[in-house]
Amino acid sequence: EKGGYDWFMLKEIEEQPEAIAATLLGRLTDSGEIMLDEVRLSDQDLRDVDKVFIVSCGTSYHAGLVAKYAIEHWTRIPCEVELASEFRYRDPVLDRSTLVIVISQSGETMDTLMALRHAKEQKARVLAICNTNGSTIPRESDAVLYTHGGPEIAVASTKAFLTQVVACYLIGLHLAQVRGIKYADEVAAVVDQLQEVPGKLRALLDRIEPVRQLARELKSAPTVLFIGRHVGYPVALEGALKLKELAYVHAEGFAAGELKHGPIAVIDQGTPVICVVPSSAGRGMLHDKVVSNIQEVRARGARTIVIAEEGDQAVLPYADEVIYVPRTPTLLAPLVTTVPLQVLAAEIAAARGHDVDQPRNLAKSVTVE
Ligand code: F6R
Repeated sequence: EKGGYDWFMLKEIEEQPEAIAATLLGRLTDSGEIMLDEVRLSDQDLRDVDKVFIVSCGTSYHAGLVAKYAIEHWTRIPCEVELASEFRYRDPVLDRSTLVIVISQSGETMDTLMALRHAKEQKARVLAICNTNGSTIPRESDAVLYTHGGPEIAVASTKAFLTQVVACYLIGLHLAQVRGIKYADEVAAVVDQLQEVPGKLRALLDRIEPVRQLARELKSAPTVLFIGRHVGYPVALEGALKLKELAYVHAEGFAAGELKHGPIAVIDQGTPVICVVPSSAGRGMLHDKVVSNIQEVRARGARTIVIAEEGDQAVLPYADEVIYVPRTPTLLAPLVTTVPLQVLAAEIAAARGHDVDQPRNLAKSVTVE
């Protein structure tokens, strides 16, 4: 049932192009409209929204962190992202015009469920993004958008993450369209670009072998750092989480611009630093800033492993290794840049002799608070 793979996780990583295609299926029209009638929130409800909260845990929280950049940019509605276990206990400001998006692969995560109940008590509208049909979280929510990613067996979340990001983007684009925002052209372009992602992922996965090789080289590193900016920052957090949970290696993700405010002190001779580099098109400044952050860590002795888009020559002078990914617009980049980090974590774990699908101390669905 692992379809020839040693681990479910590797199979699920490979399934990501199809999983994303399934999330998009039937939800985009030829004219670039987002069709989310199934969500059961009226256009009027959506026009009334003046604040969005995204609430979730772990990898699903990282999907929310990515989505914030896109939702605020497209809709101009303030969007906060919060860990479910924190949200519930700090008396957040919620009312009828707040849209709370809860994200959960399993639909059974107790922290997220308690946050959802709290939001409903405060009269907020709750929309669930979920991968598991008929589970508790979508049942208790006002509305649901299923990711349709197919069953995820490995404890570490992979295809669920990418499909959650896509589902959040569909909601953001839909909100933008319903509210008639000024970025109509941009929204139409994003709809086209989203449909190109599965093909790009296929191409990336077809030449992932060098990442496996790199994993074998990194298998004894006692600590691995990840840096990124903008949407690359949550990708760095996700890369670090995967490595911690699977390889039991100390790993941390940082906003690249924060390094000089403290974390750069931990960099030692040979410390691997995985650098997630944004596209040089569009937000070019962002790209150059990350390149100078790579330069800074390398000057302190880091071994720099750079994830950059194809054709990016600017990173070469500062990269000990480069993993090229297909060119993708900035906001969609996490859908490709996350994938080598998933593979890296799984392969380091395997090289260290761990059970990739069932890491110690963890369960697939966390039904206690
Ligand atoms: C990490 C991982 C966990 C889950 C988290 C939320 O790989 O799988 O961090 O993302 O426990 O689970 P769901 O999405 O089922 O609510």
